[in-house]
Amino acid sequence: MVARIIDGKVVAEDVKARVKKAVDELKASRVQPCLATVLVGDDPASATYVGSKQKDANEVGILTRDHRLAATFKQSELVELVHLLNNDPAVHGILVQLPLPSHIDEIEIINVLSPLKDVDGLTPYNAGMLQNGTALLKPCTPSGVIELLDYYKIDVSGMDAVIVNRSNLVGKPLAFLLLERNATVTVCHSKTKDLDKKLRNADLVVTAVGNRQRFTLTADMIKEGAVIIDVGTARVGGKLTGDADFDSVKQKASWITPVPGGVGLMTRAMLLKNTVSAASIAREMSG
Ligand code: GUN
Repeated sequence: MVARIIDGKVVAEDVKARVKKAVDELKASRVQPCLATVLVGDDPASATYVGSKQKDANEVGILTRDHRLAATFKQSELVELVHLLNNDPAVHGILVQLPLPSHIDEIEIINVLSPLKDVDGLTPYNAGMLQNGTALLKPCTPSGVIELLDYYKIDVSGMDAVIVNRSNLVGKPLAFLLLERNATVTVCHSKTKDLDKKLRNADLVVTAVGNRQRFTLTADMIKEGAVIIDVGTARVGGKLTGDADFDSVKQKASWITPVPGGVGLMTRAMLLKNTVSAASIAREMSG
């Protein structure tokens, strides 16, 4: 079997077109959607991610506010900034780029974010509501994965799904979203026993490791006809790759996402979708 490609570019463009339409409608009702980004420290990768998010937002007509703070910025100052943004009616979405420097308590910062502006879906309110299917805003990568599955009409009901990642941004929320669609979900991590056996049994494999030395998904590790969603990003010889050995896995899977050109583009598109959702929520609450 040769896998069909799940094209993140096509689906992300589709999402962006819908977002642009929603932005135009909001503007017509005098709401200018606005995303505030907060970057603490000078990690070059984080700075690049934030720059891309701002560029994407501007392309669909979303305004951005750029908060770049020194690595020495204090916890209390960051809490104060988040409160200011929470209370600013012109700001609809707040993205605090993670990871934060080690002297900052990430959980406390997430806890002070308004759930109504929480475009990462990380606050206790949204994370909790995700578990009963009613989150206002959902984490971008997991909802991007669901969007891809929906676009290609891949029905996960009854599938054995294995997720190799247990983070708050990816593995845990994705487990709830897949469970909501009646998949049987196993969340794996570095201490998981018999990962190979679990992977070989899986109808759907989602990996988000991003370190090819620690984990590379090869054809012998999967079941014939499995659906492969590769969320990993790693560099091999200067080239961007995913967790999967794409060329070999493609020969055995039924569907596969490429890297680049897969889930990463969806994460970016879903942030825009969440920002317009947040602006719509604000409009409803004020009207
Ligand atoms: N760092 C890596 N991915 C993300 C993300 O999706 N959101 C935030 N806020 N930080 C990240």
